[in-house]
Order: sequence, then structure tokens, then C-alpha cells
Amino acid sequence: MLVLRNARVATMTGPQAAAGDAPLALVERGAVACDGERIAYVGPSEGAPAGETVECLGALLTPGLIDPHTHLVFAGDRAKEHAQRLAGKTYLEIARQGGGIRSTVAATRAASDGALLSTVRERLARLSRSGVTTVEVKTGYGLSLDDELRMVRLAAEAGKGSPCEVAVTLLGLHAVPPGMDRKRWVSEVIEELIPRAAAEGATGCDAFLEQGAFDSADCRAALRAGIGAGLTGHLHADQLTAGRGAHLAAETGCASADHLERTTPEGIAALAGAGVTAVLLPLAAWFLREPAARAAPFLDAGVAVALGSNINPGTQPIESVSMLLAAGCLLSGLTPAQALWACTAGAARALRLDDRGTLRVGQRADLSLFSCSDADHLPYHAGVEHAQLVVSAGRIVYRVATPICHP
Ligand code: NIG
Repeated sequence: MLVLRNARVATMTGPQAAAGDAPLALVERGAVACDGERIAYVGPSEGAPAGETVECLGALLTPGLIDPHTHLVFAGDRAKEHAQRLAGKTYLEIARQGGGIRSTVAATRAASDGALLSTVRERLARLSRSGVTTVEVKTGYGLSLDDELRMVRLAAEAGKGSPCEVAVTLLGLHAVPPGMDRKRWVSEVIEELIPRAAAEGATGCDAFLEQGAFDSADCRAALRAGIGAGLTGHLHADQLTAGRGAHLAAETGCASADHLERTTPEGIAALAGAGVTAVLLPLAAWFLREPAARAAPFLDAGVAVALGSNINPGTQPIESVSMLLAAGCLLSGLTPAQALWACTAGAARALRLDDRGTLRVGQRADLSLFSCSDADHLPYHAGVEHAQLVVSAGRIVYRVATPICHP
């Protein structure tokens, strides 16, 4: 039995929309005990069972963080495009001129399995050292049957033995493959890729509903096929243009609608009605110098809000949990406690992973111990990572040499 004692235990079982620390549902001077891969005890330290003890010095203990939206399998970089955008070009203009997703597709196809695997493993290791224990990884830079399946396999392979558990999402409808007819690619994705990806270990499906990418009919057909094959549905919705993406995510039974920078009040009502989680990606909005989605209209409508890093080479290369929490607060308007809820309980909902994201008996024993006692500190002192001990399925996967606790 692994027992973490004398922590400020943030169970994350409070209501997200509440003020102050209420979303954290704190247990002061609390303990969490792990029996194998599961949580066996959450409560006051005095009542905790005996076992291998970690003294937490009053530091904040949360569920392992969950990143519900990444594009970690890619080769190359797009720093030149970033410079072009800084000089005034838009993301869609660059994509129309042959850059964007397609340029990463070329680099990714050219990279060896070994090279891709080692870069994905490095990215996962960095996330783990920031307190992340579950990461959703999308395909989408293969864009042929073989290359997309290769990405599914590599993402799943990277998760094996990694300190982060990987949930693989097929994003076949990310861009129209170079030299291919759009409708033909949509049919291939539906008829061949989705069943094969599900058999190879993908657990989610996604599509990019956007001008220059795929339209509602394409995305509806692919999401229906993916969800029908047992995959958890997600949709890149209303990012660059308002395309009724939130409505489509609600209509098709997606677990999450992601981005939502341009979602209308009617779209938010549709998400609320269908119980779809809103995954906000404020670092990407910042990186594209677009207004980030504000959280308040979603929370006011009763929609659970998650935060995702959206790590990818085009719109968001920043690998930092503290920066994500800061952007969730500064750009999307969440409180620090709400932002932490978005990265734990909210992100678990976005992925429909009911066994994690909160600290309760029976949940997967994924824990992050930070070097401060106050959740307000995390988005405040951004740009450095504050995790000092990370437990994944009951096993310590990261630990700093000298534990500390700032107030
Ligand atoms: O979530 N919007 C589509 N997909 C990514 C961008 C991918 C890229 O530009 O390479 C996103 O922002």
C-alpha cells in the first residue's frame, strides 16, 4: 500500500462553476492510499491505513492531470509559418498555399518509426514530469490508410511503458490528403480506416469541421461511423469560422467538442442539452493571436469545461501545464480552481474515462503532488512546472530529490 499523508487533498468532486476553492473539494491534512492500481482511501491523515509513506508537507495533492487534446505524433516543425503569421498571414491563407497540416504530413510520412516513437516518448515524458498521467493523442498527419494506421500503432506503442497512459484518437478527417478527392478520402475513412483503426487500438474518433478542411456532411458521416464502431467522438468545432460545429457534436453524440472559439449561444445550448464537454484550447488561440473561447457562457449553461494543450506543430507547440492553466485563467476566464477541475475531472469527462479525474475510493490511482499548497499558485507562477511527485496506476513515476511546499 502506498500512502501519501499530510497533503491538501483536492478531490475535484466539487461543482466546477462554483467560486473560490469549492471545485477542489479539499480535504485538509488529508491522505490518499493506493492499493495496487486503485485508490483505497481518501480522507483525514489520522484515519489512513499503514503502508509505504510519502510525507507531503501540506502540499496540494490532485488527481493525475489529463490532457484531452494533443497531436503528439508528428515530425518537423513549422517555425517559418509562425513567422509568416507574425508578419500578417493567416492560418487559412498559409494552408491554402500548401503549408499547414499538409507540410507536417510530408515530414511525418518521411520520418522513420523509430524517430517518431522517440519524439512521442520524449513529449510524453515531459508531460508526465508536469503532473500529467493520461494523454489523448490524435493521428491526422498520416492521411493515407497506411500512414494513419501507422500513427495509431505508434501512438499506442509510445504509451506502453510510458508514465502517461495514452488514449489514441483517429483524426482521419484532419485535412484532405494531397492529390486526393475529398469525398473519396471520406469514404475510405468510413469504410476502411475506422474499423481497422478500432481494431489496432484507437479508442476515439475526431474530425476537423472547417473551411478548407471538411464540411458538416463529411464530419457527420465519419462521426456516425466512428461512434457506431464503438469509438468516443470528438469534433474540432468552430475554431476559425462559426460552422455549427457545436450543434454537430451534440447531434452526433460526441463526448467533446473542442476549440469552440466562435460558438454561438445556440451552439452552447446544444452542447448543454446533449451533455457534451467543451474542451477549450486557449494556448492555441493565443498562438494564432485569435480571441480564446471564454468559459463563462459554457459554465453558465451547465456545460462542463475541460482544458487541452492541443500540442501540435502548427497552432500550439508549447509543452507546459502551468502555461495551460495560466491561459485557462487569463484568456478563458476560469478561476484557478476551475482551471484545475478542467484539467482533471473535466478532461476525464471529455474522454469518457470514468475511472479517473477525481480522487475517490476505487478510482485509478493516478496522483500529482505539487510543490505548493495553494491551487492559485499554479497558474500564477506559470512557465515552470510544479509537480514534485507523480503516481500512475499506483506506481511512483516521477519524484524530485528534495520535496518542498511553498505556501
Ligand atoms: O487543433 N485545427 C486543426 N488541428 C490542429 C492544428 C494542426 C496543424 O496546424 O498542424 C488544431 O489547432
